[in-house]
Amino acid sequence: MEADGAAAGAAALGQRLAEGGQGHVLRFWPELGAEARRALAAELRDMDVAEINRFFRRARGDGGGAAEVTAAGLDARMQPVPRDVLGSASRDRELLPRWESRGLAEIAGSRVAALLLAGGQGTRLGVPYPKGMYDVGLPSRKTLFHLQAQRLRRLQQLAEEQHGTHCNIPWYIMTSGRTMESTKEFFVKHHYFGLKKENVIFFQQGMLPALGFDGKILLEEKGKVAMAPDGNGGLYRALGAHGIVEDMERRGVQSVHVYCVDNILVKVADPRFIGFCLEKGADCGAKVVEKTNPTEPVGVVCRVDGVYQVVEYSEISLATAQKRGPDGRLLFNAGNIANHYFTTAFLKDVVNTYEPQLQHHVAEKKIPHVDITTGQRIQPEKPNGIKMEKFVFDIFQFSKKFVVYEVLREDEFSPLKNADSQNGKDNPTTARHALMSLHHCWVLNAGGHFVDENGTRIPAIPRLKDANDLPIQCEISPLISYGGEGLEKYVKGREFCAPLIIDEDGIHELVKNGV
Ligand code: UTP
Repeated sequence: MEADGAAAGAAALGQRLAEGGQGHVLRFWPELGAEARRALAAELRDMDVAEINRFFRRARGDGGGAAEVTAAGLDARMQPVPRDVLGSASRDRELLPRWESRGLAEIAGSRVAALLLAGGQGTRLGVPYPKGMYDVGLPSRKTLFHLQAQRLRRLQQLAEEQHGTHCNIPWYIMTSGRTMESTKEFFVKHHYFGLKKENVIFFQQGMLPALGFDGKILLEEKGKVAMAPDGNGGLYRALGAHGIVEDMERRGVQSVHVYCVDNILVKVADPRFIGFCLEKGADCGAKVVEKTNPTEPVGVVCRVDGVYQVVEYSEISLATAQKRGPDGRLLFNAGNIANHYFTTAFLKDVVNTYEPQLQHHVAEKKIPHVDITTGQRIQPEKPNGIKMEKFVFDIFQFSKKFVVYEVLREDEFSPLKNADSQNGKDNPTTARHALMSLHHCWVLNAGGHFVDENGTRIPAIPRLKDANDLPIQCEISPLISYGGEGLEKYVKGREFCAPLIIDEDGIHELVKNGV
């Protein structure tokens, strides 16, 4: 009876796939054992083939050709971010205390949440575990998750101290089918890094099959589809699927800070950014860093036909990328770092109304797969198929009040993308150096000094000139300082020999003398 049922189920599955032009995924069914068959059937059961085919056609620009039409003449239709929607951490310094206290008041009222995008596969970094678990080799050996959790704890403490109330910053963590279990286990193992378990909420984004250029689903193994997460813009569908916006509403959250797992300097739930967005009455905001080199491969936030979006560097001409404004800066200089502010109300509209209008972007990739005719596993040397992804910034176009907040790259942005062996950019070494270099600055700004082994003061030029310069070994626990505040009592008027580590247990130092 059971065998009959299984056979009938497989036949129905086969028919549904064949109707969608994807019958080939069962090509090796007769060769599979019972367990492999069960696993493949389970994988395919929830797969909406008609929807996947529709995504493919739309992403490819068929059925209306929207993608091609809107891309036409992009350069001519782009306008830079106007000054009245722009806040700058360096050029609006006098406003920072106001924004910060507004943000802290919101945090103190438990109306702010952080949302971490941690569903990526981290293929360039190339480790078999989620990127947030990566240890870049800091003196403390803290991982990215650990640093972020401690920044949240410190921020809660700062808000509580200023407002005399108890508060929580719920931390929503989006993972994918590939990263969920190991991420959760890591948090359990580390006791949620001192956060309350009920304030750390994991949810899973969707996955989509990789497709050949002809739209056919690729197999990773004979009994396994090549699945990949649906991009960091899969966030919006996942928010809907898991009732996350309702959870935010239940907790009274009104502002959400969305950010990427790989930025070691990220100011999680940054009160200045949140305060700025609130002062402006924004429903959506982007934190950016100045793009200074026209050929830097970074997307820029700008308006196209009056609507905000991120334009990728590959979409515009060099001449447009090189244009400069009257102040000598690049005209399109708002470098997107995937660090955003949303009101809960805006997210609710996105989930309920706008998300289905979003189109997938197509990324051509080298996708290892099983050849459907020979059954051999192929490791392609050039792109052989596509992955379909949505991007977190795809929803800017729906914002009614969009703002941009510019910060200094050396203070807030150093992403971990590559392995050390690959190239000199955005790797564990650059991430580690960026953090220690920033913390060195904090010590100097708080009146501390570094001396060499002979007791001679090291010149106060802490920024690294090139990737080969070694920074002074200096690390300050986020539990001691969120953004450089409160360090005077540890360092003012004192001289230190590196390495200097300041954490909850005090100063681990080679203090020379008080001066
Ligand atoms: P990237 O686009 O840099 O991808 O993600 P990645 O997975 O980290 O690395 P590669 O490209 O495979 O080497 C930017 C941010 O978006 C998240 C990532 O976790 C990272 O925080 N992301 C990416 C998701 O949450 N889901 C996705 O499907 C893709």
